[in-house]
Amino acid sequence: MKIGVLGSGMVGNTLATKLVELGHEVMMGSRTADNEKAQAWRKSAGGLAKCGTFAEAAAFGSLVLNCTNGANSMAALRLVGAGPLRGKTLLDAANPLDFSSGAPQLTVCNTDSLGEQIQREFPETNVVKVFNTVNCQLMTDPSVVPGDHHLFICGNSAAAKADTIAKLGEWFGWKRENIIDLGDITAARCTEMYLPLWLRLMSVLGTPRFSIQVHQG
Ligand SMILES: NC(=O)c1ccc[n+]([C@@H]2O[C@H](COP(=O)([O-])OP(=O)(O)OC[C@H]3O[C@@H](n4cnc5c(N)ncnc54)[C@H](OP(=O)(O)O)[C@@H]3O)[C@@H](O)[C@H]2O)c1
Repeated sequence: MKIGVLGSGMVGNTLATKLVELGHEVMMGSRTADNEKAQAWRKSAGGLAKCGTFAEAAAFGSLVLNCTNGANSMAALRLVGAGPLRGKTLLDAANPLDFSSGAPQLTVCNTDSLGEQIQREFPETNVVKVFNTVNCQLMTDPSVVPGDHHLFICGNSAAAKADTIAKLGEWFGWKRENIIDLGDITAARCTEMYLPLWLRLMSVLGTPRFSIQVHQG
């Protein structure tokens, strides 16, 4: 299928590379069509890889992934506008982190979240929050962390979540039983507010290759 990946950082690169390997046509989006990192990715990823502006990538994809810097995701998505995203599912992997004052802070939290901000601004798009609690290597290959561990998903559209869960299994090998649906998009508050703990764990463990496993009594 045609997929738009908004973001030229390591998350966009990892997801876009895997999707091309799987045989999808992928356009990586940036603020400018001649973004150096996106051009380098296109050259390395082969014939199914394209790059363009955020708006061009969103228009290209029948599915769109938000892999932009979370503190600037709204700015990035406003460059797209509602039209190219209308009626589509937008997988939102972004975390609204601000590192400018030293200790990481969330630019939105408690009573709101980036996932909700996006859903409010793009009401005709099905925003599915997913991937944001794991390092990008795990997104496309959960076996990077051995054994069972969990990925969280949330969003207002049951159909978009069901389709996403199917794709996560088919494309990346995420087992259905290891994906926990947290409900509507307000659950993005919970998964985004996990980030301070995720960052501290990375520092203490000395690796980004870890994940959560939820046990029930
Ligand atoms: N690193 C991970 O493993 C991981 C795991 C889970 C979630 N995440 C989240 O995934 C997202 C992507 O992370 P990343 O490390 O790959 O990349 P990043 O450096 O956080 O973001 C890069 C992208 O953000 C865009 N961007 C930056 N400033 C912007 C602005 N002022 N206006 C519009 N767009 C702007 C860049 O546009 P240009 O292309 O034009 O430069 C680029 O496409 C982040 O939200 C991060 O929190 C990361």
